[in-house]
Amino acid sequence: MAALDTALAPPKDLYAVGEFPPLGHVPAKMHAWCIRRERHGEPDTAMQLEVVDTPKLDSHDVLILVMAAGVNYNGVWAALGTPISPFDGHKQPYHIAGSDASGIVWAVGDKVKRWKVGDEVVVHCNQDDGDDEQCNGGDPMFSPSQRIWGYETPDGSFGQFTRVQSQQLMPRPKHLTWEESACYTLTLATAYRMLFGHMPHELRPGQNVLVWGASGGLGSYAIQLINTAGANAIGVISEEDKREFVMSLGAKGVINRKDFNCWGQMPKVNTREYKAWFDETRKFGKAIWDITGKGNNVDMVFEHPGEATFPVSVFVVKRGGMVVICAGTTGYNLTFDVRYLWMHQKRVQGSHFANLKQASAANQLMIERRLDPCLSEVFPWEQLTKPHMLMLRNQHKPGNMAVLVNAPTTGLRTFEDAVEAAA
Ligand SMILES: NC(=O)c1ccc[n+]([C@@H]2O[C@H](COP(=O)([O-])OP(=O)(O)OC[C@H]3O[C@@H](n4cnc5c(N)ncnc54)[C@H](OP(=O)(O)O)[C@@H]3O)[C@@H](O)[C@H]2O)c1
Repeated sequence: MAALDTALAPPKDLYAVGEFPPLGHVPAKMHAWCIRRERHGEPDTAMQLEVVDTPKLDSHDVLILVMAAGVNYNGVWAALGTPISPFDGHKQPYHIAGSDASGIVWAVGDKVKRWKVGDEVVVHCNQDDGDDEQCNGGDPMFSPSQRIWGYETPDGSFGQFTRVQSQQLMPRPKHLTWEESACYTLTLATAYRMLFGHMPHELRPGQNVLVWGASGGLGSYAIQLINTAGANAIGVISEEDKREFVMSLGAKGVINRKDFNCWGQMPKVNTREYKAWFDETRKFGKAIWDITGKGNNVDMVFEHPGEATFPVSVFVVKRGGMVVICAGTTGYNLTFDVRYLWMHQKRVQGSHFANLKQASAANQLMIERRLDPCLSEVFPWEQLTKPHMLMLRNQHKPGNMAVLVNAPTTGLRTFEDAVEAAA
């Protein structure tokens, strides 16, 4: 690293994005994409470039120089201010979104032992206060202090630097570029907990799983994890041009939801509309059997669209199976025919991100090259709102998107390469 110092800019209080300070020098100010309460709305107006203070560290915190940031729905929700405004959760007048990053440890708090300046890392987005029984022997995701960095905290990855807790850091897969490393952790770790985190319904070899949005961020990792576990993924898409992509990830079969008409809230039981919905839902179930074999209902449904698909999810999952859900992208008013839930003793399980153990297990699979990050598109720093607008309109390409922050160009895999490319 010492040789690098000559290629780095001299110490100062503010750097252009992509201009590297001497290793470990923390400028007083930084550039960041900021949301303010009065600007809540679509990302292209809500998020604006500002110069703000570089975050100050507490004893267990780490400052990361962000090389690239991942794009997630979190950024869209933070811009819109729904389902909650980030300003209802923290007091800072501006909110820097971004819950995925790859970067370099730039400064550490005085109690940080596991990481040192210069380490190359990826960041998982769960934070907690670490001092209750869930954080010490339980599951930190059940801690009352649990919060999502970059959504419920004001200091996410859409800035030159970001402040994280040291327990959020994981080693970066060195075979991936900065942008590939930045794009996967949030969705991958969420999918991992959904599939393996809810005993006794953790996924086992040979089981069948229906995956909504199979070409999306969550879905593309769910398909790969299911395949890696020796189970069968049945992916759902809405456009035929996504079919091959989902099959290439290892799905056993793919269903196009546009071939069916049973979406949205369930009609009132015993009405003509209910009968029509029921017939169509059975037709959808038959399409699953065409892949799993007649009579083989799915062991698990991987849910996140919510209102549009939930009644069908509860119907098609097998007796004693589980619908595991982590979002309500199409709406929060979930409906279902409870007779099928109780008579067939199905389980509906909420799931939210992941704890460090789960995030690390998922990251290890990436390090071992068992998973593809499925990076779909990379955007320059100046165009950070563009992928968020695409996501808002469901117009993004299959896979996961990233934005370059300090990485000067795509395809770089080390800090040295980045400094050289920037010089
Ligand atoms: N709780 C958590 O920890 C957590 C973590 C990650 C993400 N999430 C949430 O999960 C949701 C999905 O995230 P993502 O990153 O996977 O998003 P994504 O990449 O946009 O994928 C979502 C997929 O949903 C499908 N979809 C869209 N409209 C649909 C509809 N009406 N019915 C059925 N499927 C529909 C789309 O595929 P097709 O159009 O091809 O069907 C799309 O590919 C977001 O709301 C996000 O905030 C929650």
